[in-house]
Parts: sequence; structure tokens; C-alpha cells
Amino acid sequence: MDATLSNIDLQRSNYDVDAIRADFPILASEFNGYPLTFLDSGASAQKPECVLRRMDDVYRRSYANVHRGAYALSQAATDYYEGARKTVARYLNARSDDEIVFTHNVTAAINLVAHSYGRRFMERGDEVIISQMEHHANIVPWQLLRDEIGIELKVAPIDEAGNLLLDQLAEMFSHKTKLVSLTHVSNVLGTIVPIKKVIDLAHERDIPVLIDGAQGIVHTRVDVQDLDAEFYAFTGHKLYGPSGIGVLYGKKDLLNTMPPYQGGGDMIERVTFEKTTYRDAPARFEAGTPPFVEAAGLAAAIDYVDEIGMENISSHEQELLNYATERLNEVDGITIYGEAQHKAGIISFTLDKVHPHDIATIVDSRGVSVRAGHHCAQPLMDWYGVAATTRASFGMYSNKQDVDALVDGLKYVKEIFS
Ligand code: ALA
Repeated sequence: MDATLSNIDLQRSNYDVDAIRADFPILASEFNGYPLTFLDSGASAQKPECVLRRMDDVYRRSYANVHRGAYALSQAATDYYEGARKTVARYLNARSDDEIVFTHNVTAAINLVAHSYGRRFMERGDEVIISQMEHHANIVPWQLLRDEIGIELKVAPIDEAGNLLLDQLAEMFSHKTKLVSLTHVSNVLGTIVPIKKVIDLAHERDIPVLIDGAQGIVHTRVDVQDLDAEFYAFTGHKLYGPSGIGVLYGKKDLLNTMPPYQGGGDMIERVTFEKTTYRDAPARFEAGTPPFVEAAGLAAAIDYVDEIGMENISSHEQELLNYATERLNEVDGITIYGEAQHKAGIISFTLDKVHPHDIATIVDSRGVSVRAGHHCAQPLMDWYGVAATTRASFGMYSNKQDVDALVDGLKYVKEIFS
């Protein structure tokens, strides 16, 4: 379900951001004598104590390779790993644990689909539709496939505010369209794409859909049965879990028609030098020792998010986004990129005559962490005619003081450059 201002459950009065902050040890840090103002959760979120503790526990008490041994320690690690798969399946409302493939991140998940699904089901002249606001992770894997087998990449347009132009997207569908691969939430503009509508439109033409949920899973509640996309990819480290673990949700029947993408241990039924047979999904896509400690950490993060409630987190972030937009507009010479109808807690901007990297460096001297650059979305930057922006992105722990510290930092930047 898309989170929008209208469908957020407003239990805001129960949202205790100070209590949440206390669960994230790093937020108590100081830099250059300033309290840490962390506004780069879109790149990677901070971790709550329960995630750190869960991983520490596995390493200290339950560490052995998974799926390998009959001994108790290996079984304990396997229980953590397969338990994490159940947690993810439950959180996404998947029909079965077998629909959850653990990868290393979203990039790995999209590459998996491009190479396995793409090579099996696409041929020269077939089309994949993406959008103008994709992250490189949802562009380059398709270009690699294009260079290998001759598919075509079509780019759905956006308007100046950063809304996806749905009518124009629908007009791009043809009998050659083999996949629509779209971001759920733009990592630069914050646009919440109405993916349910896109999926319904694509399904009217029997076109499968992949959703890059790297940012979407962090800011909205995702129910894969309700969405009905064929694939939904997300990563642990943006969802308050560890880095090195990602998820590809895929419909089970579809996953089992797809060939393995990487070969190795644990994904096989039987190996001889002449021939190898493969296990069903998800095992066929999980060659080698998997990131099982990271999976355990991700499960802890999901339980934590679930306890607070994604609707409450979204609501808190919306309030902060409105506050930040208002306050940033007080700064002379600022231009905000992305004013879509539905936006998540991401805000990109430029400041007249100051390079985004200079902004990030100067505010960093006052303890404020923001990302500057092209945000792995160079075609989007080209479309807006800018080389880079500065980006502030919120997490469940962000608060108004963080926004105030950023605005004070920007005023200081203006003083330096005046
Ligand atoms: N994709 C991450 C970002 O947007 C790294 O910052």
C-alpha cells in the first residue's frame, strides 16, 4: 500500500522520538563539540541497540555455518537465518517463506532478476521500462543486459515536480514490453510513486513488474499481496539493519521458472561432472555461505520497526518533511528539487553559488551529516540540469532539532560565501 498523507494512521501523540533516539547509541555522539545531526538515513540508517545486540549474540553464542552441520551450533545459526526469512515474509505479507531470497543488497537483487529472469525470458528487441528517476542500480543492470542480448530500455517521464507521468508510462507499453522496473520512492526527490496503479496498469497487459524498494520499504508499509508486483527488492541497511543483507521478494512460481544466477554450494540438489540439478527457490539463488548474522540483525530491525509501527514512522517523517520544507525555504537562494504530490522524508536542494560538496563539508564541521553529489542518479541530475544536489533524508529518529541544525548550518554557509 502506498503511504500518503491521507492514509497515515495519526497516532502521532504516542510517538516518542526521544525514546526512539535513546535506542540508537550513535545518536549520543558529538562531532567537533556539536551533537551529531544525522541527516543521511537515505544512504544508510543508524542501528538500534537491539540490532547490535542480536548480531553480537549470534557471534558470541550461536556462530557456526548454516545448513551445514547436524551439530547444535550450526542448527542454532540456521534457526536464526531461516527465522529471519520468516520474519521478512511475515512483514511483507508474502504467501510463503520461499518467496524471500536473501541477497546482499538491492543492487544484487536487481542484477539477479536482470541476469536470471532477463536471460531466460527476454530476447533481442524486447523492452524494459524504467523511469527518469531511477537509481543507477535500476539502470545499469538493464544496460548490461541490453549490451549482451539486445533488449531496449525505455524511460518513463516525470514532471518538473518529480511526479511520474502515468499516462505517458502506460502509452509506452507494447507487446515487446517484458518488464516494468520502477523505484517505489525516489532517493533524490522523495517522490512516492503510485506503484499500485502502475502494477495494475502493467498487469492489464500481462507485463510483470519489479519494484526497487530501497527507499520505499523505509518510509511506507509494504504488503506484497496487496501490491501484487512480481518482484520487490529492498536492503537491510536502510531499514535500520546491517549492511550486507538484502531481500528479493519474488512470486514463488515465477522464481522457480528462473535459472540460477550464481553457482556454488547450498543451491544444488545433485552435482556430477556431467550435470547438476538445482534446488527450488529461494535456495537456488543463494549460492555459498549466506550473510546469516546480517539476516538475524535484519530480523531484529524489522521487529523493532514493526513495534513502533510503520504508519507512525511515516506520519512522524511527514511532519518533519513539512517542517524542513518550510524552514529550508527561509534560506535565501535555496532551490528544492522534488515537490511531488506524495513525498517521503527526503529533501534535495541546491544553494545559489555554493557547490553541494562545500555545503556538506561546512555543515559537517558543525556536526551535520548530509549527502552531496549525484546520489547515483546521474540521468535525473542531467534532466534537472544540475551536476549535484545536497540531500537531507530522515529516519524514524530524526527530529526538529536536526532540521534546525541544518538550517543554522546553511545560514553559516551563506555567511562564509557572502
Ligand atoms: N542509494 C543510497 C542513497 O541514495 C546509497 O544514498
